[in-house]
Amino acid sequence: MVNISVLVSGGGTNLQAIIDKIQTGDLAGAQIVQVISSREGVFALERAEKAGIKGKVVKDTESLLAELAAENTELVVLAGYMKVLEPAVIQAYRQRILNIHPSLIPKYCGKGFYGKRVHQAVIDAGETVSGATVHFVDEGVDTGEIILQRQVPVEPGDTADTLAARVLETEHVIFTEGIQKVIQQLEKKGGK
Ligand code: GRF
Repeated sequence: MVNISVLVSGGGTNLQAIIDKIQTGDLAGAQIVQVISSREGVFALERAEKAGIKGKVVKDTESLLAELAAENTELVVLAGYMKVLEPAVIQAYRQRILNIHPSLIPKYCGKGFYGKRVHQAVIDAGETVSGATVHFVDEGVDTGEIILQRQVPVEPGDTADTLAARVLETEHVIFTEGIQKVIQQLEKKGGK
C-alpha cells in the first residue's frame, strides 16, 4: 500500500476525486495518509475530515518535510497546491511528487500560468483544443516529466470559467489515472 500525502490550497475537488476513486476501488494500492494545506480554512480540509483523513496546515518547508516524514509519505500529490516547493522537498522526494496542471504542457504553463489565467490565455490565443496534464514535479515550474495528458475541446463562446469547468472534469479523471500508473511502476520496481 503506497502512502500518499495530498497537498492542497483551496476547494480540493482534485483531492475529492482521489478520495472517491480509492473508496470505489478504482485507485488500487494507495492510501491517503494525510492532507496538508498551505492555508487555514480551505474546503479541502473539510473534505479530508469528512473522509476521516488527517488534515494539517503547514506553511514552511522545514515543517512540511517533517510532516511528510511523520506519516511515512511515499508519494506527494499536489492537488490545487498554490505554493512552489523548495528544492529540499524536490530532492527528498525525487520522481515521487505529482502535479496536475490545467493545460497541455508545455503550452500555457510556467510562472504566472495558474487557475483562470491559463484558460484565458488559451481563449485569447484562439486555441480550439486545451487539456490537462499530470506530471512529476522537479525544480522548475510545470517542467517535470509528463505522466499523462488528455485533450479537452475549446467550444465557441467559451469563457475562462466555462473552459475551466470542462478542463477540471478531465483533471479529475486523469489525475487518478496518472497516480495509478506511477503506483504500478513503483510496484513493478519493487521500490516502495
Ligand atoms: C485546478 O484547476 C487545478 O488545475 C489546479 O488547481 C485548481 C483547483 O484545484 N492545480 P482543486 O479544485 O482545489 O483540486
